[in-house]
Amino acid sequence: MSDIVTIRSLNQLPAMLESDYALWQGDSEALLVGLPSKPIFDLVVTSPPYNVGKSYERKASLRDYLAWQARIIDLLIPRLAPTGSICWQVGNYVDNGQIIPLDIQFDPLFRRHGLALRNRIIWHFGHGLHNKRRFSGRYEVILWYTKTDDYVFNLDDVRVPSKYPGKRHFKGPKTGQLSGNPRGKNPEDVWDIPNVKSNHIEKTEHPCQFPVGLIERLLLALTDRDDLVFDPFAGVGSAGVAAAIHHRRFWGAELLPDYINTARERIRSALSDKARYRPHDKPVYDHTKSNLSKIPLPDLTSPPVLLIAK
Ligand SMILES: C[S@@+](CC[C@H](N)C(=O)[O-])C[C@H]1O[C@@H](n2cnc3c(N)ncnc32)[C@H](O)[C@@H]1O
Repeated sequence: MSDIVTIRSLNQLPAMLESDYALWQGDSEALLVGLPSKPIFDLVVTSPPYNVGKSYERKASLRDYLAWQARIIDLLIPRLAPTGSICWQVGNYVDNGQIIPLDIQFDPLFRRHGLALRNRIIWHFGHGLHNKRRFSGRYEVILWYTKTDDYVFNLDDVRVPSKYPGKRHFKGPKTGQLSGNPRGKNPEDVWDIPNVKSNHIEKTEHPCQFPVGLIERLLLALTDRDDLVFDPFAGVGSAGVAAAIHHRRFWGAELLPDYINTARERIRSALSDKARYRPHDKPVYDHTKSNLSKIPLPDLTSPPVLLIAK
């Protein structure tokens, strides 16, 4: 089994460069500046801090936040393989009750490098806080860019069951034969994958980790076996778990030592085939099957209670 190298200083970079699984505990910008400026990564996939004041971030002005993210993107692009992809998963920045969709803000930061936007994937999930002054937010966005037109896209590896697999050709030479792809259909660009809340099997101490299935679908479609996946804001290593399950290599950068420790443990379990995760193609739970979706009927067997008003 490959070991997972953890490094904290640029002096230790040679160890990272030689390993299939490596974690940098520190600032991702400092790591990127230290890495050779040549194509290394086949897929960069991340969910950066959204600048909403989570425990691990310091809320900056939107301008300063985007300037910082632009520097990271500028450092990533020369290190991305020509056949590679970059996926940036973002939600909304909220300012004084107004939402600013971050994907709109990020798009120019990628386009100015000549990257091509292939999909703007809507990740829809069913749970979260309820809002009183606007509709409750239930989706985030993944921007998927490629560096060139010669990019990896393994559609057959991520097909999902078709709606009507029994549909047949009704005219022409194939009349009567099944018309759909027997491997299933394209998963389309709206993905229904539960977010990681307290009762999710992947839940760790991290307040906003990726579901592994979300990265699994991207990684299966956009990389080949043994390719190198990089997450510059790796958190508890969910992208590394997906990589280890599917025989891709993985490097991640994360500021906080506790998250690095959890990431290492999770990737280690995945490398020993013991990952606990929810696959990308598992159907979403039908909530109508839960007893909680029914309002209990009043108990008609007990005698009525007489309430006498004073
Ligand atoms: C949205 S979370 C990513 C969660 C991750 N996708 C997962 O599944 O665990 C963003 C992460 O970036 C880390 N972070 C913030 N600033 C950083 C920096 N300058 N360099 C590296 N990591 C940073 C935070 O500690 C946090 O864990």
